[in-house]
Amino acid sequence: MTYTGNKHMLPIANKPMLMYGFDQIRVAGIKEIGVILGPLQEGIVEALGDGSKYDVKITYIDQPDPKGIAHAVLISRGFLGDSPFVVHLGDNLLKDSVPELGQEFLKSDSDATVVLTKVKDPSRFGVVQIENGRIVKLVEKPKEYISDLALAGVYFFRPSIFAAIEKLKPSWRNELEITDAIQKLLDMGGKIGYHEVSGWWKDTGRPEDILEANQLVLRDLKLLVEGKIEKGVSVSGNVEVGEGSIVHTDTALRGPVIVGENSEIGDGARVGPYTSIGSRVKILGAEIENSIVLDGTVVNCRERITDSIIGKNSRIVSDPAHQSAGRKFVVGESTFVSL
Ligand code: G1P
Repeated sequence: MTYTGNKHMLPIANKPMLMYGFDQIRVAGIKEIGVILGPLQEGIVEALGDGSKYDVKITYIDQPDPKGIAHAVLISRGFLGDSPFVVHLGDNLLKDSVPELGQEFLKSDSDATVVLTKVKDPSRFGVVQIENGRIVKLVEKPKEYISDLALAGVYFFRPSIFAAIEKLKPSWRNELEITDAIQKLLDMGGKIGYHEVSGWWKDTGRPEDILEANQLVLRDLKLLVEGKIEKGVSVSGNVEVGEGSIVHTDTALRGPVIVGENSEIGDGARVGPYTSIGSRVKILGAEIENSIVLDGTVVNCRERITDSIIGKNSRIVSDPAHQSAGRKFVVGESTFVSL
């Protein structure tokens, strides 16, 4: 999915992932937001526009090659000017409140404040070492264990970070690492604060992380039925059914379940728990649990589907004519199918 589309636009509970960070930044009262666009940018400009519908002003900044987060900050210098600013990676979901952290940062005299979270596999992240309540070392993707406190993808900076970035050399993955920039800032005598996440945090690097993020967000789902749930549907827990969608009789929704607009659930299908069904989707006959089904997809079979992410405009159907001749697939690159 992320070969052909932008990961930040993958929906979590039917909302593009990047909107979670974007909303927190808006709630923090930040009115000017710079959005860094990489080569796969489909849907981002359409979703955010010039920001006016969200009462903010959006400036798009192109980063055609993946040269790193610190590089993204550097090329945004003209946009950022002399203001303190927050960097949000957009693919990290954070239950903690960015607005409160922003207020604390503005009151502090720190050059930077980083948000930290304990992780099981620190070698996949930027990691910090703390001694006597102070950050003493930061390492990106440490090969040797230094601590289990990872950088959670939200950073507050003052313009002093630019001088540190200017001194950086590209890392082994040919990126200017923001972790290295903060280490440099520390070496230059900068003051680095930190906040350890108390609510949940989810990086969405792997499919199972995306499913878990979906679960975490769906836990807070409220009951909202704008479409139609026919008589005879077994509904339990909280469900959201969008406008124009129909859930036919003799099906089951086991909340939390969210269904977008103009979708159809029928033919004895059982959906949920922890399942997000997009818009213009048909789920007929199947049982589907802990999964995400993107817009325009049809699932018409008697199978039980779990822990799955099914891309846009896909079709999973059973065809009796093919059953004896073997299964038939048209699947994209680097796809995972488990039968
Ligand atoms: C990036 C940062 C890393 C941070 C992580 C959080 O990693 O470089 O320090 O811990 O985001 O998700 P990347 O996604 O580039 O591997």
